Amino acid sequence: MKILALSGSLRAASINSAVLRALRVLAPASIEVYLFTGLGDLPLYNPDLESSPPSVAAQLRREVASADALLIASPEYAHGVTGTIKNALDWLVAFEGFADKPVAVLNATPRAHHADAALRETLITMSAKLIEAASITLPLPSANIGDADLLAMPEIVSLLTGVIVEIERAAMKPYLNSSLYIDNQHPAVVAQAAKLADGCADEEEIAKRCFEFVRDEIKHGWDYRLNPVTCKASEVLIHGNGFCYAKSHLLAALLRANGIPAGLCYQRLTIDGDQPPYCLHGLNAVYLQQYGWYRIDARGNKPGVAADFCPPLEKLAFPIVNPLEQDLPGIRAEPPPAVVKVLTEHQTIEQVYNNLPDVDLQNHTV
Ligand SMILES: Cc1cc2nc3c(=O)[nH]c(=O)nc-3n(C[C@H](O)[C@H](O)[C@H](O)COP(=O)(O)O)c2cc1C
Repeated sequence: MKILALSGSLRAASINSAVLRALRVLAPASIEVYLFTGLGDLPLYNPDLESSPPSVAAQLRREVASADALLIASPEYAHGVTGTIKNALDWLVAFEGFADKPVAVLNATPRAHHADAALRETLITMSAKLIEAASITLPLPSANIGDADLLAMPEIVSLLTGVIVEIERAAMKPYLNSSLYIDNQHPAVVAQAAKLADGCADEEEIAKRCFEFVRDEIKHGWDYRLNPVTCKASEVLIHGNGFCYAKSHLLAALLRANGIPAGLCYQRLTIDGDQPPYCLHGLNAVYLQQYGWYRIDARGNKPGVAADFCPPLEKLAFPIVNPLEQDLPGIRAEPPPAVVKVLTEHQTIEQVYNNLPDVDLQNHTV
């Protein structure tokens, strides 16, 4: 999991930056805390540059899009937020990848409350999901304090460790949800998930068993030419077949039913051989405490395809070989509309095969 940390102070000896660096030290190996240090290089926000933002703004947006959560620590200047953090947020106001992002706000100056309140108001207006349990005021003296001083304060270490736990909890929540297509509360899914977990020593063993069940016991609808077309996880389980997208819904549901966060990933691949046309291929990412996000592909093995579960080594079904093929960024909690559409609006597997969705390369959207 990745937490993008933003400090609203450009000062070399900034307490806010020191807090974020201390947090990076305290995070477990499965959580990367990435401190973006380019906020001082951002030009003042100008809406005219929305369609072609300067490279540092584009870089900030990429980091935001790929982060599971954001963590902001920023001082108060004259009862307001600093221009540094407000300018950075202005560059993110119209950015789609920011909406619904879980965000925590740390206040390192107990006497300052105007900036903290203003920052929260701005973030809520920008449709961020404020993580209240991780948004705390740290009882720090106002004297200059460095990372090492912070890490030597047991109370601060305990508070910052709690912040990481709460951010992780909030960031993983959508990946444990039961929904229309990942219906992990369906009785058949619950029963199968319990059967797979029976006798397992830990979450890694449960995840491996769920993966192998979907890879080996659920047939790929096109490989085996099997109807009906399935979409919901429960349908895939009951009928025992599905296209890659549908199988990924079932694997996500079985993992979530076992309390293991799981999401959906997509690749853009050629449909057959190494020639166009292209289509989306659906797979999964599972969140393992020891390793963080780990991608797995349970579409089903066949000659030339040997996907496996061997964390942290990734062993997917298909490598990216052609220049227009790609691993699409991001881990989705829910299937994109194009995937739901193809699986719910067609009655036969031939119709699905002839209408496989592709990515909009210009907008990088599915
Ligand atoms: C220009 C300026 C204005 C400030 N205004 C306030 C203020 O309104 N309220 C407050 O509590 N502290 C104020 N401070 C103090 C800072 O919040 C404090 O020094 C904080 O530690 C700075 O964060 P940093 O160490 O991360 O740079 C101000 C500091 C500066 C430099």
